[in-house]
Amino acid sequence: MLPRNTRDENGTREFRREAEFAGTLQGYEIQNGQAIFAKLRQIKSLYELRLLQHAIDISAEAHMRAMSNIGTLGWEYEVQAEIEYVFRRRNADYWGYPSIVGCGPNGTTLHYIESQGRIGRTDLMLIDVGAEYDHYTADITRTFPVNGKFTPAQRDIYTIVYDAQEAAAAKLRPGAMISEASGAAAAVIEERLARLGLITAVGALIPGTQMPQYRIWYMHGWGHWLGMNVHDVGQQVPLAPGMVTTNEPGVYIRSDALDYFDMTKPGMKEFIEKIRPAFERYKNIGVRIEDDMLITESGVSWMSGRIPRKLEDVEAFMAGKASLK
Ligand code: GLY
Ligand code: MN
Ligand code: MN
Repeated sequence: MLPRNTRDENGTREFRREAEFAGTLQGYEIQNGQAIFAKLRQIKSLYELRLLQHAIDISAEAHMRAMSNIGTLGWEYEVQAEIEYVFRRRNADYWGYPSIVGCGPNGTTLHYIESQGRIGRTDLMLIDVGAEYDHYTADITRTFPVNGKFTPAQRDIYTIVYDAQEAAAAKLRPGAMISEASGAAAAVIEERLARLGLITAVGALIPGTQMPQYRIWYMHGWGHWLGMNVHDVGQQVPLAPGMVTTNEPGVYIRSDALDYFDMTKPGMKEFIEKIRPAFERYKNIGVRIEDDMLITESGVSWMSGRIPRKLEDVEAFMAGKASLK
């Protein structure tokens, strides 16, 4: 998920830092080279794709090792160790970004990297990790029940995210715009949150704001370019074969989410009262599913697709019915 403050009208955060540094020098002018790098890096060669696939395959093994061993582990940092052991054993450079291993409520915090929580047996485990191999990084998230079986409430949220990811994937093909995929994911999430009562209606705004209600529960972007950087450079141009994007919708029912609204705003009290029953039912559930998608001549390929993702496949894997492939 791309934090909202990464870019602004002055370019990337990195560019602003360079420009500030240049301001301390005499006789230099700094220009933003992002467009040049975007062009060079947005479409991968076959060789680049082999490296990226290798990073993804290492990460897939790490994810499945964590899923397989979760029953023997008591702390998030132990899960992180299982994952990073695989990275080291398979000679990855390192991780492409700090590992996110969040159990239960911690899974509702974006970029939670502390790994200090206990593994609750009835919780969901959210793992967002990616190995870097020869400078190319994977970026993959899976969310699964620690005891191997989704509760009805966990199942409701997981199914929304899964269906949103599928809807987005169906839009990915040469010539399409990223906005078609992100829009498809958002539409599924909004419609289904309304059905669960977590928002009052499709199209409804948070009272007194221009912010759609569904953004309370899905507060990050749908995806980003992937390659030498986890949030790689790239431009918003029609998709073409060789481009790689993540597909990472999520729904996060944070336990304090309703605490910060301005209750003096007209309609706010009624809004909160209306969604509170559903909130109480689903709070502390966080689900993200993230895959690495290669645009091909004919459509799209799930580069990280070998890790169980469909709800039934996750449960079967956890039950030992499926083995490491
Ligand atoms: N792991 C960071 C991201 O998903 O964007
Ligand atoms: Mn990502
Ligand atoms: Mn990620």
